[in-house]
Amino acid sequence: METYLNFLLLVVSICTRSVASFELDPTWPDTAVKEMKVYGTGIVLNSEGNLIVIHRSGIMQPGAPVNQTIQEDVVLVVDSVTGKILQTWGKNLFHWPHGIAFKYDPITKVWNDSAILTIGERFISGSDTTHFCTPSDIALVPGSGDFYVADGYCNSRIVTFDKNGNYLFEFSAGSADTPNPIPFNITHSVALAPSSNSTEYLVFVADRDNSRVQVFNPTGSFLYELNSQQFGAAGMPMMFAVTHAPHAGDKFGRIYVTYGLNQNANFAEVDIINGENSKVGKSYAIVPDGEIGDWYEAAHDIAVAKDGNTVFVAVSRADRLILRKYKRNMGGGSGRRMGGSVLILLLTFVLVKWN
Ligand SMILES: *[C@@H]1O[C@H](CO)[C@@H](O)[C@H](O)[C@H]1NC(C)=O
Ligand SMILES: *[C@@H]1O[C@H](CO)[C@@H](O)[C@H](O)[C@H]1NC(C)=O
Ligand SMILES: *[C@@H]1O[C@H](CO)[C@@H](O)[C@H](O)[C@H]1NC(C)=O
Ligand SMILES: *[C@@H]1O[C@H](CO)[C@@H](O)[C@H](O)[C@H]1NC(C)=O
Repeated sequence: METYLNFLLLVVSICTRSVASFELDPTWPDTAVKEMKVYGTGIVLNSEGNLIVIHRSGIMQPGAPVNQTIQEDVVLVVDSVTGKILQTWGKNLFHWPHGIAFKYDPITKVWNDSAILTIGERFISGSDTTHFCTPSDIALVPGSGDFYVADGYCNSRIVTFDKNGNYLFEFSAGSADTPNPIPFNITHSVALAPSSNSTEYLVFVADRDNSRVQVFNPTGSFLYELNSQQFGAAGMPMMFAVTHAPHAGDKFGRIYVTYGLNQNANFAEVDIINGENSKVGKSYAIVPDGEIGDWYEAAHDIAVAKDGNTVFVAVSRADRLILRKYKRNMGGGSGRRMGGSVLILLLTFVLVKWN
């Protein structure tokens, strides 16, 4: 007698791996903010996580009335949760404001419209150590109070100052194709990030019209660059903004970059591997808001919460303040995706014959 035992074990396991992605919060900001007829250019988060916005009233391009400052408050503090305006200031100070950073915490400091330090001469352009020509951004060195200015549209240089506004040094482009570096073509944004050397930091420069982000040591020696191909971008997108967030769990934090061209606006995360290397990660399309119709494509500035899980973007546009808020979705809830699913198929067939 022969008995055959067929034993079939089939295990199919489909595991859904969490795939982090960013999702737009369409309810933010408050309608009153969405409807403001102003041209938003710069954003930064305060220590409470609320968004400080600088805008240019209704002025989109240079061409503001000559030698006049904007008469209305151009700085808004917007609640990062409710999207409501908490505070405004900055009237009659700026002609064509572009970027913003902060050193003192606006929560504990009472702001008014008097400047404590001004570098450059109002309405006078220049390229020496006491003048700028359309500067666009500023980054503060934690601790020392020194700062880096991206001087910007016509000088295309990075200039550094000590905390009292004394000129230190300046630098221009380095390049991956040294010994013939391509000069900067609009140093649009500058950000600092920790490096592998604990006392040092890295200087990230968004070289807007060269479609690249260049990385320097604190004294302006070129280290490496991130080009548009590394961001997975076709053609020559403009690199608008760079910012840094410590991002819990990462040794050196992450750099966030906005870029785009022709109605195509994106932001991307960059992992800082060490002082000599960074890796461009996933990028996210900043899609137009159907409600308000056409738009100007510049993803002009970006601000990221310390934990890296909330991203704010200011999209520049002729006649309306466009602020976007994205939350990192860790893979749960409605945003759950099957990407990265693991399929394990184990098939065992046992044939036993008894005699
Ligand atoms: C603007 O102001 C500067 C400095 O006060 C002055 O030199 C210049 O002539 C003014 N320009 C015009 C067009 O008024
Ligand atoms: C603004 O604040 C500074 C510092 O607190 C003070 O010295 C200055 O007088 C104030 N200016 C006005 C116009 O209130
Ligand atoms: C800078 O980029 C613009 C395009 O945005 C281009 O027209 C211009 O020739 C570039 N300037 C230099 C010096 O390469
Ligand atoms: C870090 O320090 C080492 C040793 O001092 C140096 O060789 C290296 O270039 C530094 N890295 C950066 C990014 O500055």
